[in-house]
Amino acid sequence: MFRTHTCGELRISDVNKQITLAGWVQRTRKMGGMTFVDLRDRYGITQLVFNEAVNQELCEQANKLGREFVIQITGTVNERYNKNEHIPTGDIEIIVSEMKVLNVANTPPFTIEDNTDGGDDIRMKYRYLDLRRNNVRSNMELRHKMTIEVRKYLDELGFLEVETPILIGSTPEGARDFVVPSRMNLGQFYALPQSPQLFKQLLMVSGFDRYFQIAKCFRDEDLRADRQPEFTQIDCEMSFVDQEDVIQTFEGMAKHLFKSIRGIEITETFQRIPWADAMKYYGSDKPDLRFDMKFVELMDIMKGHGFPVFDSAEYIGGICAEGAASYTRKQLDALTDFVKRPQIGAKGMVYARVEADGTVKSSVDKFYTQEVLQQMKEAFNAKPGDLILILSGDDAMKTRKQLCELRLEVGSQLGLRDKDTFVCLWVVDFPLFEWDEETGRYMAMHHPFTSPKPEDIHLLDSDPGAVRANAYDMVINGVEVGGGSIRIYDSELQNKMFQLLGFTPERAQEQFGFLMDAFKFGAPPHGGLAYGLDRWVSLFAGLDSIRDCIAFPKNNSGRDVMTDAPAPLDPSQLEELNLIVDIKE
Ligand code: AMO
Repeated sequence: MFRTHTCGELRISDVNKQITLAGWVQRTRKMGGMTFVDLRDRYGITQLVFNEAVNQELCEQANKLGREFVIQITGTVNERYNKNEHIPTGDIEIIVSEMKVLNVANTPPFTIEDNTDGGDDIRMKYRYLDLRRNNVRSNMELRHKMTIEVRKYLDELGFLEVETPILIGSTPEGARDFVVPSRMNLGQFYALPQSPQLFKQLLMVSGFDRYFQIAKCFRDEDLRADRQPEFTQIDCEMSFVDQEDVIQTFEGMAKHLFKSIRGIEITETFQRIPWADAMKYYGSDKPDLRFDMKFVELMDIMKGHGFPVFDSAEYIGGICAEGAASYTRKQLDALTDFVKRPQIGAKGMVYARVEADGTVKSSVDKFYTQEVLQQMKEAFNAKPGDLILILSGDDAMKTRKQLCELRLEVGSQLGLRDKDTFVCLWVVDFPLFEWDEETGRYMAMHHPFTSPKPEDIHLLDSDPGAVRANAYDMVINGVEVGGGSIRIYDSELQNKMFQLLGFTPERAQEQFGFLMDAFKFGAPPHGGLAYGLDRWVSLFAGLDSIRDCIAFPKNNSGRDVMTDAPAPLDPSQLEELNLIVDIKE
């Protein structure tokens, strides 16, 4: 047997046992005639002791061990004189009698410790070493536990796990596809799935009734902290359901995950917010409701008093930060700079403090009487000590989005976004379409297979922008953790949808003929949802980026710096594919 125990296992009750361990040398310390080695494996750290007086040769060997050498030792468990309360094995040590160096190691490019000295780039290049660190490894363990709990929950409810193909035709879901050339069909390309959307719908036509898959998805889109080009969905679909059934099932899964993974029992029903309200009050379709700070619109109160910026605005709105009147001029200037950054794009910020006597002092006092400022204060229901921050602009939606960024920043500054507090909600009643400025036409807000609300179908031709969808997103702490919809299952309506999205009948037939055909063979009403597994794990682990819960992630330019991908193809491969690479400048 290679080892009798792991490095995280031995306790005081094991004293005097003869044991064998194997692992990596975390560090060695020489103190007088004694050498101490911290031996590490996935399970923990155990202290090894080599005594020069007892076995000089062995001790000399130990002194030569370098960091990350792989060794196997045999010895006796001993009660430690100086106990270490910080590790579970801290009561014991091993008096080593035999040691074998299984493998030597180069000095690692960064320290394999919780607080490593390695920067992002170097850790990504040597990700296999980064994964030896406790915090990164524990994220992977959490991910594993979550997938187990997901499978348990769905299996109990009769969901079948079915794998769908990775090499498929293109599915338009909002992002660009990654494409793969086919050698056997020269000049033709597969696409990697942005999600298993079409296949799961086809499985419903097959009568599978309840499907799920922990599915890899691929999207060639701009990357952010919560986006990777390849990521994992907990993808589900159900037949003979309405929106309420799907919401109940997946709210249930969310509660199960909170309970089984974080030990948090959520008994109340998640709140639901119509999309229009989320945009109006929080400027976002994924509002962070760990704190309120709702937007208040001020057009009626603040416009037309001679302040040119507001007088020419199409939207004036603000937030009230409770108890923040003590913000200094410097802090307010920093917030102004924050909203003026190009990524946010506001022109400026107006602020007003509510003084102890209830009067309002603002940065635009010369344009407003105290009476108007008092009306504004009332609109926010603001109290002495509160700080009001106002933005304006000529595009209401854009200004709301800017105000959303400001709200989140102020929330963070006031400590209102604690990572261990979770507020879950559903955003419902999304618009079916959104107008795309670039192409000058409507696009599907969720995807082209989402059904319109029956009561809005009559607006499809006359006012497509006003049609609401049977679509829903789950949001936790400002993160969209999942989304889904009730699907169209009627080939006529699906055809109509393609037409509204600007597909010619020929293109619709070419791309989706198989789906429309399938709908003619007895498609049941169906709907579903996909959760983003990476986002769930990073929320539960309190991570700032989903990268940290993916074993081998891509960097911000979509590169795997460890294997150096993507990379040019070998000329012989290009030849085999009959492809010529001609990069236009
Ligand atoms: P949607 O596009 O909303 O829906 O995706 C579902 C969930 O997947 C996660 N997600 C991502 N996670 C990491 N990186 C990305 N690039 C990324 N993109 C999406 C999010 C999101 O909520 N087929 C539909 C689902 C359905 O209708 O059933 C779909 O893919 O958490």
